[in-house]
Amino acid sequence: MIKGVNYLITVALLALASTIVFAYDPSPLQDFCVAINNTNSAVFVNGKFCKDPAVVTVDDFFFPGLNIPANTANKVGFNVTLVNVDLLPGLNTLGISLARLDFAPYGLDPPHVHPRASEILVVAEGTLLVGFVTSNPNKLFTKVLNKGDIFAFPIGLIHFQFNIGQTNAIAFAGLNSQNPGVITIANAVFGSNPPINPDVLIKAFQVDKNEPETTGHILWECPLARNVWALVKVKIQKCNNEARDFFLLFGFMVQSLDQRDLECWATMAWSIWNARNKVYFEKKQTHPRIILSGAEGLLDEYQKLMASQS
Ligand SMILES: *[C@@H]1O[C@H](CO)[C@@H](O)[C@H](O)[C@H]1NC(C)=O
Ligand SMILES: *[C@@H]1O[C@H](CO)[C@@H](O)[C@H](O)[C@H]1NC(C)=O
Repeated sequence: MIKGVNYLITVALLALASTIVFAYDPSPLQDFCVAINNTNSAVFVNGKFCKDPAVVTVDDFFFPGLNIPANTANKVGFNVTLVNVDLLPGLNTLGISLARLDFAPYGLDPPHVHPRASEILVVAEGTLLVGFVTSNPNKLFTKVLNKGDIFAFPIGLIHFQFNIGQTNAIAFAGLNSQNPGVITIANAVFGSNPPINPDVLIKAFQVDKNEPETTGHILWECPLARNVWALVKVKIQKCNNEARDFFLLFGFMVQSLDQRDLECWATMAWSIWNARNKVYFEKKQTHPRIILSGAEGLLDEYQKLMASQS
């Protein structure tokens, strides 16, 4: 009987010991950490290597300047300064980081996820419309936040913050990882390198191939065109998306663009059109950068030709 009890206790202790072992497996601190046997060629452990405590100084735990607004003069009117382990080495293994978010009027922190952290955000200035969407089925939780309001975004869920005020907005966010990571949904899906096969995107986003494509769609809206335009520095006013043929569209653009923008638009459109036909008829993909540099070459040649004739 005693022997039986001892046996039970041993089994129970072993079971307990093994759950403790599993419980202490660390959560990932990078996207991946491929195991190798030769430690000489190792570049990371999970997190970073530790500095010798004897040479650690107070500055390893210090980062100044989060009072300074970041530049929001970009397409989305938003900028984030994330103080993670790369900027503040003392954060290593502490499971925490901090961000400052700057919004221009109507600036947007586009839908994104942090694969390794939940987020708690406090509004310091302005008015933000925020929200997150649950995993399937996708329920939206959304709210308007004013100065001093706090909102929590659970780990791994798609979320956004949008400045609905006419003034700049500022928020600070704490994240429970030294390296939360960020996946901006639109960039990941439409701007990956190399690009995702357009057939995948067409099917996933249910763009019906049999529906007659408008010229505007091909030149502006389809993933290929978007990827190319995303690389263009010059901003060109969006064209009429209803025009069903190139000449109608061209007529519209001639009316709405000045000479320089029109030349740029026409060479870009020509290059996108050719690349699109390659995908459509030859199933050959061209990288957006190559399409862009093709268009730039064309524009350059055209302008040289014009200059030589005047
Ligand atoms: C590491 O070493 C073990 C034992 O020598 C070997 O079985 C294993 O395949 C090695 N793993 C890698 C990734 O090289
Ligand atoms: C964000 O702000 C910093 C500092 O002002 C600037 O260097 C950086 O280019 C900005 N990033 C974007 C995407 O605008």
